[in-house]
Amino acid sequence: TSDHLRHVESMARLPSGAGKISHLNAIVLGESLASEENDLVFPSPEFSAKALVSSPEQHRQMYERSIEDPAGFWSELASQFYWKEKWDPEVCSENIDVRKGTVKIEWFKGATTNMCYNALDRNVEAGNGGKVAIYWEGNEPGQDGQLTYAELLEKVCQLSNYLKHVGVGKGDAVVIYLPMLMELPIAMLACARIGAVHSVVFAGFSAESLAQRILDCKPKAVITCNAVRRGPKAIHLKEIVDSALTECAKDGVSVGLCLTYENESAMKREVTKWQEGRDVWWQDIVPKFSSKCAVEWVDAEDPLFLLYTSGSTGKPKGVLHTTGGYMVYTATTFKYAFDYKPSDIYWCTADCGWITGHSYVTYGPLLNGATVVVFEGAPSYPDSGRCWDIVDKYKVSIFYTAPTLVRSLMRDGDEYVTRYSRKSLRVLGSVGEPINPTAWRWFCNVVGDSRCPISDTWWQTETGGFMITPLPGAWPQKPGSATFPFFGVQPVIVDEKGNEIEGECSGYLCIKKSWPGAFRTLYGDHERYETTYFKPFPGYYFTGDGCSRDKDGYHWLTGRVDDVINISGHRIGTAEIESALVSHPQCAEAAVVGVEHEVKGQGIYAFVTLVEGVPYSEELRKSLVLTVRNQIGAFAAPDKIHWAPGLPKTRSGKIMRRILRKIASRQLDELGDTSTLADPSVVDQLIALSDC
Ligand code: WT7
Repeated sequence: TSDHLRHVESMARLPSGAGKISHLNAIVLGESLASEENDLVFPSPEFSAKALVSSPEQHRQMYERSIEDPAGFWSELASQFYWKEKWDPEVCSENIDVRKGTVKIEWFKGATTNMCYNALDRNVEAGNGGKVAIYWEGNEPGQDGQLTYAELLEKVCQLSNYLKHVGVGKGDAVVIYLPMLMELPIAMLACARIGAVHSVVFAGFSAESLAQRILDCKPKAVITCNAVRRGPKAIHLKEIVDSALTECAKDGVSVGLCLTYENESAMKREVTKWQEGRDVWWQDIVPKFSSKCAVEWVDAEDPLFLLYTSGSTGKPKGVLHTTGGYMVYTATTFKYAFDYKPSDIYWCTADCGWITGHSYVTYGPLLNGATVVVFEGAPSYPDSGRCWDIVDKYKVSIFYTAPTLVRSLMRDGDEYVTRYSRKSLRVLGSVGEPINPTAWRWFCNVVGDSRCPISDTWWQTETGGFMITPLPGAWPQKPGSATFPFFGVQPVIVDEKGNEIEGECSGYLCIKKSWPGAFRTLYGDHERYETTYFKPFPGYYFTGDGCSRDKDGYHWLTGRVDDVINISGHRIGTAEIESALVSHPQCAEAAVVGVEHEVKGQGIYAFVTLVEGVPYSEELRKSLVLTVRNQIGAFAAPDKIHWAPGLPKTRSGKIMRRILRKIASRQLDELGDTSTLADPSVVDQLIALSDC
C-alpha cells in the first residue's frame, strides 16, 4: 500500500546527527537500506503509529540523551517509583576499569526503597488493586487460577509475616526451589518485602546442584513444594530437597526450616517424607498470618537476589543483583522492548528459576502493573498446540519465548498453530540464544500472522535486563539480528588485543560504562568477578559473546567464545559436565564441547576416556549420562558420548578443544594444525571411534 511505502521511506530518510558520539554513527540507517536485498522487515504503520517509540529518529534522540546525560535520563525514569528517601546527589558512581582499582558499581546510592512495595502496593494505591496480576495455568488444561494485585499483595504479606516470625530478616538468604506455581513469584516478592535475599534454584536442578547452592549462600530457610507434574510425569521435589539438606548438614550447613507447599494436584501430602521440627506445610501456617505487613525500606544498593549461573570453571557463580538500579532497569526495558500498554496480557514462557523469570515474569512486568500469565506445564502437553490454546484463552498480546521452543514447534507443523485464532497477539519476543532467520520467519509469519514484530532481546544473567534489543515500533528488523543497544548501553566490539573496532566488523562483545541493571559482584568472590568480566579487556565489561556489526549498524550475536555452552537457552559450563563425568568411578577423563543441534541450538558432546582395562559398553554409556543427570539436572545430559582412548593435548597438557569441536561436528578436513599435540596419533584414533 502507498501508506506502507511512505512509512518505509520516512524510516529510511534519517537525519544523520552523526559525529557527536562516535558510537552512535553505527546506528545511522543509510538510504540504501530500504531495499529488498537487505532483508528488512518493517513494523506496520499502524503498529508504529501507536508505539511508545515510533521512529528511528525518536529512538536516536532518546538514546543520545541516555548516553549524554545518564543521570538525568535515569533519574526521570526512576521518579515514577516510590523512594522513601532520594539518592543524594549522584545517580551513578562507578569504576569498571580494573587498572584504576577495585571494580565498583553503584546506582541511586543512598536512596531507600522497596521492590515489593513498588511492584504491588504502588499499583494497588494507584487504583489498580482489582486488576489481574497473575493468571495461572496449570499443567492440565482447565486447571487454572488468578490473583488480582490486591490479592497478590495479601498473599505476599502473609508469607512475609511468617518469614519474619521465624526469624528471617534483612540480608538473610532464602533458597526457593519451586516450579511455576503462583507461590514462586509470591515467595520472591515476600523476600523482597522484608529485605531478605532470595536465591531461586531452578526446580530441574539435581539434589547435588541444589546442595552446592545452599552451601554457598547458607540460607535461613528453603521454600519448596511436595511435587510437580511436568507433562504426564510427577517429580518429587521435596525428596530432592531432603537429600540436598542431608548433604549440606554433612558439610556443616544445616537449614532450620523447609517450608513446603502442598501442590495438591500433583500429589497428596500423605506420601511426603517429613522431618518434624524442620518441615512445615505452607498451607497449615502461612494463611494464619496477617495479610498486612509493613515494608522494610532498603538501600538502593542492598542485595535483592542471588542467582547462580554457569561459568567456564566447574563452580557456579552467585550473580548478585541489588535493588534500585535493577528495579528501574527491568521496568524500563520491559516497557520499551515490548511496547507495553496497560491493556496488554503478557506471557513469558521462561521459568522463574532463570534470570528471564526474575526480570521478565516477575519484576519488570509487575512494576509496570501488567497482567502476567504464569504457566506450570510443558509447552507440548497435551499436544504442540498448548501455547496457542493458552494465548487464545487469556487473550495474550505479548508472547516472549526462546528459539529452542520456536524450532521445536516449527518442526511439529503449522496445523498446531493455525488451528487457533491468535488474533490477540501483538508483539513477540525471543531470548536465550541467537534465533536463526528460518525460525524467526516462521515465528513472525506463522505464529504472528506476519503482523507482530519480534523483539530478539540479547542479555545475560549478569546484565539483569535487556542490553541489545529492538524497540518494535521504531526500527525495521533483520531476521536474526538483535538490532541496537537499549538506552544507556554502549556496546563495543573489540579485537583480541582489546582495541575497539568501528563500522562493519566482528569480534568480542564488550560494554563500555555501567547500566543500572548490572550485577554488582559474584557472591563471596569479588576477585572472580573482576577476573572473569573486567580483566580480559581492561576498561570494559566483557560479555563472553562474539558479535558482528553489519554496515547498517545492526548487531548479530554469534554465540559464546568461552567454555560455556547454551542448551535450549540454558547456560552450562563444559567444566561442570566434565567434573560430573569424571566423578563416575569408571571414567578417567572427559572433555565436553558443544555441537550444533537442530532444536536445542547446541547439543552436548562428550569425549570420555575410561579407566584402564574398562571395556566400552552401552550400559556404561547410559550410566555416564545418568551420572550427569543426577549431578546437574536433566537438561545437562550429554547427547553423545564419544569413547576416547586419549584426548588431544598440547605438550603442556592443555586439551585442544578446537580439534575436538571439529571431530564432534565431523569437519574432519578442517582439523587445522595438529603438530603441536603431544601425541598427534590420538586424533586418528578418535576419528576411527566416531561411530561407536
Ligand atoms: C547468554 C546468557 C538472558 C536470559 C537467558 C540466558 C546467550 C541470550 C540471546 C539473544 C543471542 C543470546 C548469550 C548470552 N543469549 N539471549 N537474544 N541472542 N544470544 O541467560 O543463562 O545468562 O545466558 O545467552 O550467549 O551470553 P544466561
